[in-house]
Amino acid sequence: MNETNTQYGGRPSLPMQGVPQPKRDEVLGLPRVHISTHPVMAHKMTALRDKNTQPPEFYRLVKEIGMLLAYEATANLALEPTDVETPLEWMTGQRLAGGIGVTPILRAGLGLAESFREVIPDVQIWHLWLRRDENTLQAMEYYNQLPHKVDLQVCYAVDPMLATGGSAIDAINILKVRGIPRLSYVGIIAAPYGLLKLSQTHPDIDIYVAALDESLNDRGYIMPGLGDAGDRQFGTF
Ligand code: PRP
Ligand code: URA
Repeated sequence: MNETNTQYGGRPSLPMQGVPQPKRDEVLGLPRVHISTHPVMAHKMTALRDKNTQPPEFYRLVKEIGMLLAYEATANLALEPTDVETPLEWMTGQRLAGGIGVTPILRAGLGLAESFREVIPDVQIWHLWLRRDENTLQAMEYYNQLPHKVDLQVCYAVDPMLATGGSAIDAINILKVRGIPRLSYVGIIAAPYGLLKLSQTHPDIDIYVAALDESLNDRGYIMPGLGDAGDRQFGTF
């Protein structure tokens, strides 16, 4: 967050000023939206939000929270039977049916991609670099590294902050043209405004977040939030 961020002639840029926002209660019942209720998650979220938490600890917490989110978001993955020989006899076990993709929205999504990798080591990581212009809050695509061949059952777009929803909506748009059977969004904190926009624009995806906060401030930051998730992970203040 940079207080000197300006649009024209040194004036502070306040792109959300006067923009009507839904209240938290108005978006709680949205279909396909999953907000974590796990007490361990709540505990870790408090440490993550703390302004005194420094980048090494912040990054570690992002990864831990991401692993809890990965467990929640993968609870309905498809399985297929597979034979396995235990030390005592053969049995029919199960394995994940089809590949799992994770698309970190760079750069802040990198920590969450690592979390998915801890939970499912052979996930495919499809990098997508979006950056929101802090004056207009429009997401801009810089770079992507998406494979030509799609052999996934699901792909998770991961990014800690769902603020206006612009970055998440664009990421899902980009993934949709790849013909992946199922798409989900996984984030740490959502604002009601961005959650509603994402859910209305892409009603066919599941959305998993650790917490739903109160609002966006005039500059498009989530309140109470945690500040800038990218800067806090990578120490770029
Ligand atoms: C942040 C965040 C999201 C986006 C959310 O990224 O990680 O990608 O803003 O805002 P939105 O919902 O209003 O689009 P940012 O563009 O600041 O880049 P960074 O990951 O490099 O910090
Ligand atoms: N991006 C962040 O990192 N934090 C916010 O509060 C909003 C967008």
